[in-house]
Amino acid sequence: MILPGDHPDSIARAVATLAAGELVALPTETVYGLAADAGRDDAVAKIFAAKGRPSDHPLIVHVPDAPSATHFASSVPPVAQRLMDAFWPGPLTLILPRRAQAGAAAAGGQATIGLRCPAHPVAHALLLACAQASPPILGLAAPSANRFGRVSPTMPAHVESEFGASLLILDGGACPVGIESSIVDCTRGVPVLLRPGVLTREQIESACGERLRDPLDMPDAAPRASGTLASHYAPTAKVRLMPAGMLQTALDVLGADAPRIGVYARTAIRARGDSVRVRRMPDDAAETARQLFAVLREFDDQQVRLIWVEPPPDEPAWDGVRDRLRRAAAG
Ligand code: TXA
Ligand code: MG
Repeated sequence: MILPGDHPDSIARAVATLAAGELVALPTETVYGLAADAGRDDAVAKIFAAKGRPSDHPLIVHVPDAPSATHFASSVPPVAQRLMDAFWPGPLTLILPRRAQAGAAAAGGQATIGLRCPAHPVAHALLLACAQASPPILGLAAPSANRFGRVSPTMPAHVESEFGASLLILDGGACPVGIESSIVDCTRGVPVLLRPGVLTREQIESACGERLRDPLDMPDAAPRASGTLASHYAPTAKVRLMPAGMLQTALDVLGADAPRIGVYARTAIRARGDSVRVRRMPDDAAETARQLFAVLREFDDQQVRLIWVEPPPDEPAWDGVRDRLRRAAAG
């Protein structure tokens, strides 16, 4: 059921559900998360089961503030502290060394843990209420609230369509960021960008005072991260990235014979008949991030067979959107 997230009764009900070892969906500024008490391996196991996600893929643990990170992290390297100071609460996840007894199931058994302090007021209210419960719930393990390999949800209705009406979903409206947090690994001596989000490389580098490395630059293989699998975030329809000119030509050639196609482009595209659904991609990267997953889901709901997308501009502000589109197209 979907409950108003800004109501204290909803928060109390969510805390009681989590304390009983059950799952709750919560809004964050990036996407909706499917949450469990990070301190209970039995509760965390339900997340993996519900998502159909392999249990050795680590989840992100959400905390109410930066000091709470030390419940799960055995240390906070200086570079991580600088990033927390600059971006928490906000759309940034830090990979830190894990405390031996904390969040083992959430971390997928790894010696590291992904931590994030979300900026959404409903997420914040829930995390605070959890911390104040007795016994306290010190963190919420929460991957995106979608089945494994599917597009992340940015609206309560998306979550309900993934997991059904029995799940308690806190309604926080449409997620203002729209794509998942940037992930920086702070356990390798140098900061490594595992997943781009809406924060630009430049913003992150200027906060840490160091160049960000890419996983491929690192000598050892990157830890398992499902958000970094080549084909992830895929809608049901086949996604293809195509320059606007080619896209227009293909539509012109197909004419009235075009199958159901969803088109998402910044350039104005002409299409005949109503088998082709055209959505205009905004000129602004942040605006596009906000609507991207909802647009992909709408195309799926309209049962298009193909989604043709004009590649985003080759600019740093578009890194997160470009990354998600590339992965969707690899599906
Ligand atoms: O914006 C977000 O980050 C959303 C909201 C709900 O907070 N969460 C999210 O979670 O995207 P999820 O589980 O779908 O993606 C988490 C990513 C995965 O790629 C996971 O493998 C990686 O974070 N990750 C988590 N812990 C890690 C660790 N210890 N080492 C390496 N990667 C880790
Ligand atoms: Mg995910």
